[in-house]
Amino acid sequence: MSLQKSIERLIRIKCSSYKEDYIKRRILSRMRLTNTADFEAYHKYLLENPQELDLLRNALTINVTKFFRDPEVFEVMRREILPDLARRRRSIRIWCAGCATGEEPYSIAILVHELMAFHKDVGVTIYATDIDTVVLQKATAGIYDRKALENVDEKRIRKHFISHDDGTFEVRPHIKDLVKFRQHDLMSGAPITRYLDAVTCRNVTIYFTEKQKNDLTHLFYSALAVDGYYVIGKTEYLAREVEHLFTPYNAMQKILRKAA
Ligand SMILES: C[S@@+](CC[C@H](N)C(=O)[O-])C[C@H]1O[C@@H](n2cnc3c(N)ncnc32)[C@H](O)[C@@H]1O
Repeated sequence: MSLQKSIERLIRIKCSSYKEDYIKRRILSRMRLTNTADFEAYHKYLLENPQELDLLRNALTINVTKFFRDPEVFEVMRREILPDLARRRRSIRIWCAGCATGEEPYSIAILVHELMAFHKDVGVTIYATDIDTVVLQKATAGIYDRKALENVDEKRIRKHFISHDDGTFEVRPHIKDLVKFRQHDLMSGAPITRYLDAVTCRNVTIYFTEKQKNDLTHLFYSALAVDGYYVIGKTEYLAREVEHLFTPYNAMQKILRKAA
């Protein structure tokens, strides 16, 4: 078995699905930090130091995020998308794919909670998934430092977070209960569920190959219900081959809608 295959097995991530150059750069940076001279030495180091498995996995799946990242996108969700869904559906299902440490699904949950005050008969489930189990543990705990909350206003902080003595803030149970976290690999080809009303997949596919990105667009298309919304990252775009699957809803905020 090749060293790359062996590393893939050890960290349970299929490196060949990512751009080769990206994988190389991440592994080289771990090699520098572990003082290993070549790929073979790094492989040996990985076998002998199990904690390095998590460090490499983390390096490959960078998980920078924050509450209400790109606030204008959430404003469109709050003003237009969620009220539209609440008018049309008794039960709303949203998939936040590549949720990292949970700030994105919890931001949506805060908006959903506010909306439900006006639509008491509507039920909402937010499925939040990531490949990385370490970030999912943090997401489930729902405890953040002040910096992650810089886009959250004071009123929302008081209402939806418990402030702890050590300066951290914990998401309150009424928000936590709206989100179901699960481990899921977006390259597995299977959706977390179907008949979804909205999917957000932001800043996740930057390191995917074009083919992986297009396959994923097909996957989201088939998992969404008629007229479902698809939100991608501010710097992302759909390739020409899959463009026809969605129509722009708000081009500026990169919000699309499933084409009929
Ligand atoms: C930069 S974070 C994005 C977080 C959030 N969506 C946002 O925009 O703030 C990217 C996340 O994608 C996850 N990711 C990378 N490859 C993945 C895969 N194949 N399946 C599921 N999640 C993946 C990483 O683990 C990481 O947590």
